[in-house]
Amino acid sequence: MMLPVELYQGEEALKADRARILRRTWQFVGHVSMLAAKGDYIADVVGGAPVVVVRNDEGLAAFHNVCRHRAGGLVADGTGNCGGQFVCRYHGWRYMLDGRLRSAVDFGQAPGFDPRNFSLYPIRVDTWRGMVFVNLDMAAAPLADMMAPLDRRWAADLPEFGLTEQRTHHIGCNWKTYVENYLEGYHLPMVHPEFDEDIVVSDYQVEIEGEIVFHAAPARDGSVNAGLWAWMWPNLAINTYRHGYMVERMTATGPDSTRLDYFYFFDPARTAELAEMFVVSDRVTAQDKDICEMVQRNLAAGVYRPGVLSPKHEAGIAWFQSRVAEHHDGPTPLAAVS
Ligand code: FES
Ligand SMILES: [Fe+2]
Repeated sequence: MMLPVELYQGEEALKADRARILRRTWQFVGHVSMLAAKGDYIADVVGGAPVVVVRNDEGLAAFHNVCRHRAGGLVADGTGNCGGQFVCRYHGWRYMLDGRLRSAVDFGQAPGFDPRNFSLYPIRVDTWRGMVFVNLDMAAAPLADMMAPLDRRWAADLPEFGLTEQRTHHIGCNWKTYVENYLEGYHLPMVHPEFDEDIVVSDYQVEIEGEIVFHAAPARDGSVNAGLWAWMWPNLAINTYRHGYMVERMTATGPDSTRLDYFYFFDPARTAELAEMFVVSDRVTAQDKDICEMVQRNLAAGVYRPGVLSPKHEAGIAWFQSRVAEHHDGPTPLAAVS
């Protein structure tokens, strides 16, 4: 099966993807090294919803970045330290780092107002090998369940390096167009002809286990690439290199715009290899951007109807599309997430 073209464009499709998929799955927001001290926070937008993760006395906590008074924001998007409390940027309500309202500053006497009923809206937060994830679905299965296949296969392939560098790219296509491109190696000879110098493209393998699609190809001697990639439902990938790895987050920023955030974790002693890896990574991203934007333009042109997937090369896409279809088959749980 292939998904209808309408799912790749328009505000309605994006709204449904956010409600049914992106707000109900584990979403990577950063690394624990970005949350080392009490009050350190990461504020981001997940499935269209502003969220904040903070370190408090107990560990990590996460909330909607939305004040209970009149929906002001607690902190600006990005990273920083908020001290021992959140102070709403609108009228200054103060919240403890566990989400409880400490003080509705200079509010006056409102009949029946009980600050205990105005804690921040909580969300789930969990970590895996130093990577921090949130989930807006309080009933979601644990993060560890999703990562179990990766633990089994790659325990030794992800050494504990700190965050070396972060880079962002913008692509003019639906997030699923980009994901599907990521999920197959079929396009490598045409789109990335240089790849064959790094890996044996003809031996490219795709395997699915749980919610993870593993890709592997033998790496050639002297290549910066390690020839192992893992993509996790619904929008995250880990790309390995000989001396580190990169976490790639694919965020839907609009119906036909996607932001790629690359988080590099690299052996700090390997500066030459790191520079070479950036050259490879930037080249591959530019090539994928061109092809994905071409596909998006053609999807929007109104002539294309679902084609056919290669059983040999595109099993990862077939799996992804069946998961997307499963999530779209039912009432939109907007009330539960908005
Ligand atoms: S909206 Fe936060 S204090 Fe008013
Ligand atoms: Fe590609």
